[in-house]
Amino acid sequence: MRILSGIQPSGKIHIGNYLGMIRPMVQYQDRGELFCFIANMHSLTTVFSGEKIRENITDALIDLLSLGIDPERSIFWVQSDVPEVAELTWYLGALTPLGLLQRCHSFKDKVARNIPASCGLFTYPVLMAADILMYRSNIVPVGQDQKQHVEVTRDIAIKFNMQYGEILTIPEAEIHEDIAVVPGIDGQKMSKSYDNTIDIFAPEKELRKKIMSIVTDSAPVEAKKDPQANNVYLLYKLFAPAADSAVMADKFRSGGYGYGEAKKQLFTVLMEHFTEQRKKRERIVADMSYVEEVRRKGAQKARAIGAEVLDKVRKAVGVA
Ligand code: ADP
Ligand code: TRP
Repeated sequence: MRILSGIQPSGKIHIGNYLGMIRPMVQYQDRGELFCFIANMHSLTTVFSGEKIRENITDALIDLLSLGIDPERSIFWVQSDVPEVAELTWYLGALTPLGLLQRCHSFKDKVARNIPASCGLFTYPVLMAADILMYRSNIVPVGQDQKQHVEVTRDIAIKFNMQYGEILTIPEAEIHEDIAVVPGIDGQKMSKSYDNTIDIFAPEKELRKKIMSIVTDSAPVEAKKDPQANNVYLLYKLFAPAADSAVMADKFRSGGYGYGEAKKQLFTVLMEHFTEQRKKRERIVADMSYVEEVRRKGAQKARAIGAEVLDKVRKAVGVA
């Protein structure tokens, strides 16, 4: 079984990315063949600084290695290091119905947030389909927001196979419903683009400040509070052992327990949760030649595997 997912290097990795996508991927290394890549070509639709992109790619490589992606047990690469994916995008785009892309929420949401409505942004799901189909992926673990893109991929693959024969593998999305949407410090979905993230590798002081700034209502300490209606508890619950989050919920319900106290507990549990990863990150940063080697070898492996599907597609469509 092949599991594939990508992450855009569009900013610092936050706990939403971690719970929605990275942790499931790390765990997949024990269950199947993991394909994990940094989707830097996708991020060209929203980040228009070469310098920033380069910096973010390096950060993403370091972060993912620190969080447990193991290049010995997975295929781990940078999307643009296998430029053939752009070629496959073209072949797929040639038979992708316009209506399929016009229905994509992600495009509409991004345009509504003033991201330029470029061709690339519109055809973004086709590049994503190429990522998935080029490596014969069976399972694509993503957050809720990406589910539609995996459905588009399936539609494109089915259409391609109907036209040219059974060449492409039809993938399936895997959504982790329990942690489908991690809330940000303002209560909206946590996202780099909403400036409401809790970044995993932020310096300790910054992390504390972020957590203390989580938005809550202004109920006084004495008031009884509904734990389900406050972000501090919802975030705590994602990381604390069940027994500890039950204790916090009780304290909120009984009153006499303020948000400030809960935020301190959240900070402690997050620091504990990521202690090992934070240490590992320091070791990796001290040896950048290792990171470069991981990148080079990953690209080599991905390229060789991707070539198999691409060769068949080229023959099928008639360019080879
Ligand atoms: P962002 O919204 O911060 O730009 P991306 O769109 O790069 O994040 O998402 C990378 C991966 O992390 C995707 O699989 C996405 O579904 C997942 N993800 C992002 N934010 C969240 C969240 N708040 N909750 C759960 N999963 C998330
Ligand atoms: N679009 C995804 C996101 O923003 C990133 C991505 C690109 C991806 N290609 C992919 C995810 C292929 C899964 C499979 O999160």
